[in-house]
Amino acid sequence: MDETAHAPVQASPGVPQVDVALRVNGARRRLRLDARVTLLDALRDHLGLTGAKKGCDQGACGACTVHLDGKRVVSCLVLAAQCHERDITTVESLSSGGEQHPVQAAFARHDAFQCGYCTPGQIMSAIALIAEGRAGSDEDIKEFMSGNLCRCGAYPGIRAAVRDAAGL
Ligand code: FES
Ligand code: FES
Repeated sequence: MDETAHAPVQASPGVPQVDVALRVNGARRRLRLDARVTLLDALRDHLGLTGAKKGCDQGACGACTVHLDGKRVVSCLVLAAQCHERDITTVESLSSGGEQHPVQAAFARHDAFQCGYCTPGQIMSAIALIAEGRAGSDEDIKEFMSGNLCRCGAYPGIRAAVRDAAGL
């Protein structure tokens, strides 16, 4: 599948434009962007994928976590131009045919959110954590999810959901 962006990107005088092809949730998306555009802004503002959230926009909160070539990254610190021909997975890809991803279902079972703003990032981080084999204990979960902040303090539910999804 190869789709071009629906929104035209306005050029800023003097700022280089770059052509990038991003493989987002299995679809190849071509964009012409200001070279300074982050992956987070490319996803949200140019591709209409608003699942990844902008919290701090400086790498400190984890709300913007997505997977890049299978590894979790804070997308506010990655330039879209660095992602040319790379695989990006966002929270939008997780449910298929009305079925929740097991980690999404565990978050729902354990009431692992309040306002939900941090939740997409928490879920993407938790999926990667489990795949990395780093969800072996509550302490490990706390340590390796420490980059994902929750202002609502839903941490006990989040850790319970990750334990559950990891089969602990
Ligand atoms: Fe990216 Fe906070 S918005 S880490
Ligand atoms: Fe509100 Fe985490 S559920 S910030």
